[in-house]
Amino acid sequence: MAIQTILKMGDARLLRVAQPVDEFDTPELHALVQDLLDTMQDAKGAGLAAPQIGVDLRVVIFGSGQVNPRYPEAPVIAQTVLINPELEPIGQEMASGWEGCLSVPGLRGLVPRHLALRYRGWDVKGALIDRTVEGFHARVVQHECDHLDGVLYPMRIKDFTQFGYTEVLFPGLDAQAKDD
Ligand code: NI
Repeated sequence: MAIQTILKMGDARLLRVAQPVDEFDTPELHALVQDLLDTMQDAKGAGLAAPQIGVDLRVVIFGSGQVNPRYPEAPVIAQTVLINPELEPIGQEMASGWEGCLSVPGLRGLVPRHLALRYRGWDVKGALIDRTVEGFHARVVQHECDHLDGVLYPMRIKDFTQFGYTEVLFPGLDAQAKDD
C-alpha cells in the first residue's frame, strides 16, 4: 500500500495503550499490515508496531526472513504479523542487549529483557500463533509488544551509561541502515 511516516518519541500517540483488533481478515486490517510491512522494509527495521504509524491497534510485525544489516550477527526471524499478542515469560532469567527503535532514531541503549518467553496471538486472517522463543527473537517480540502499551525502550534502560548515539557506540555499523 504505502510507506507511512514513523512517529518519533515525544509524540503522545506513542504513549497510548492500543486497542485490541476485534475483526480479522478485513480489507482495513490487510491494508494496515501492508503499510507496516512497506514502512518497516523502507526503514530496514527489525520490527514495527501499529502505534508507530499512528494507528491505535494491537498489531505488530517483525522479522524479514533474512539477515538484518543492523543486526548482522542475529538469527534470522521469519516474517511475522502478530495481532492482540499475549506474552508469558519463561523463568526469571533476564538478559541485556542493545536495542534501537525507529521512533528513537540515531540512538542505542542496553536493555534488560526476559531471556525466554512464550507468545500467542493471531495472524491477519485470525489463525493462532503460539511460539516459545529465546534470545534475540524474544527480545524483538518484547520490544514490539511494549509499543502496544505505550512503552519505548529508553523507559526500560537501567544503566544510562549504556545509552548513546549509534554512530559513536558502533562506528562500524552500516551507515545506510536505520534503526528498528
Ligand atoms: Ni521500537
